[in-house]
Amino acid sequence: MGKSYPAVSEEYKAAVEKAKRKLRGFIAEKNCAPLILRLAWHSAGTYDCQSKTGGPFGTMKLAEELGHTANNGLDIAVKLLQPIKDQFPILSYGDFYQLAGVVAVEVTGGPEIPFHPGRVDKPTCPMEGRLPDATKGADHLRDVFVKHMGLTDKDIVALSGGHTLGRAHKERSGFEGPWTHNPLQFDNSYFTILLSGEQEGILTLPTDKVLVEDPSFRPLVELYAKDEEAFFKDYTEAHLKLSELGFAEE
Ligand code: HEM
Repeated sequence: MGKSYPAVSEEYKAAVEKAKRKLRGFIAEKNCAPLILRLAWHSAGTYDCQSKTGGPFGTMKLAEELGHTANNGLDIAVKLLQPIKDQFPILSYGDFYQLAGVVAVEVTGGPEIPFHPGRVDKPTCPMEGRLPDATKGADHLRDVFVKHMGLTDKDIVALSGGHTLGRAHKERSGFEGPWTHNPLQFDNSYFTILLSGEQEGILTLPTDKVLVEDPSFRPLVELYAKDEEAFFKDYTEAHLKLSELGFAEE
């Protein structure tokens, strides 16, 4: 049995298609794909499968959630996207931010991730502290992604490849620098660089490093480094799951 998605009106479907086209042009023009992908991931990654709270339901627009330390800098993404959101009042913020995340991957050369509309926005934001802490190790990643979000080891490694885009900013997270030499290109270079060891000007967070150290994560890093298609396939699956946490339960 697959997921059954809520029915949305023809008008809603047309708005999704039109917003997708607008987002493609906008994200490419502003070179903001990395920040937008981080917005989509931080929106969804708060989901807790035990209490069924949090998740991609539009709460990131609230000052309270934007004030969570892990979300430093995401107010910029929310503000950037608002003029486009204003053109599509029919769309939920939950759908709109996840659609923007899908487009960010696509316009930078990544895989096309399926998108299903119908998320209903929640009125209140999740509690602070659910997103991963970059200074911790494998146990922490499994606690966040497997125990709370309900994902798998494979999803952890594939999704970490999202760091093929973008960079860390000292004033936002305390870390500095990009993970790859082409931070606006979605490819498997995050994994090739990670395997090659430390490089001048390249950032490796403790949570990136554990992917090559942990015996269950490492074979996947090796696979994705040598086979970009395998990475794109697993990334697509993992991103789709992430974007639909708590949405359209089976
Ligand atoms: C595995 C646990 C993760 C940790 C600990 C982590 C941590 C971080 C940190 C510290 C930054 C720097 C923020 C800044 O200073 O601007 C960052 C940026 C970023 N993260 Fe992650 N992240 C994780 C997983 C993910 C996932 C699953 C995705 C998407 C699939 C993702 C996508 C990004 C992107 C695209 C940026 C760059 C943002 C920009 O350039 O402004 N991250 N992450």
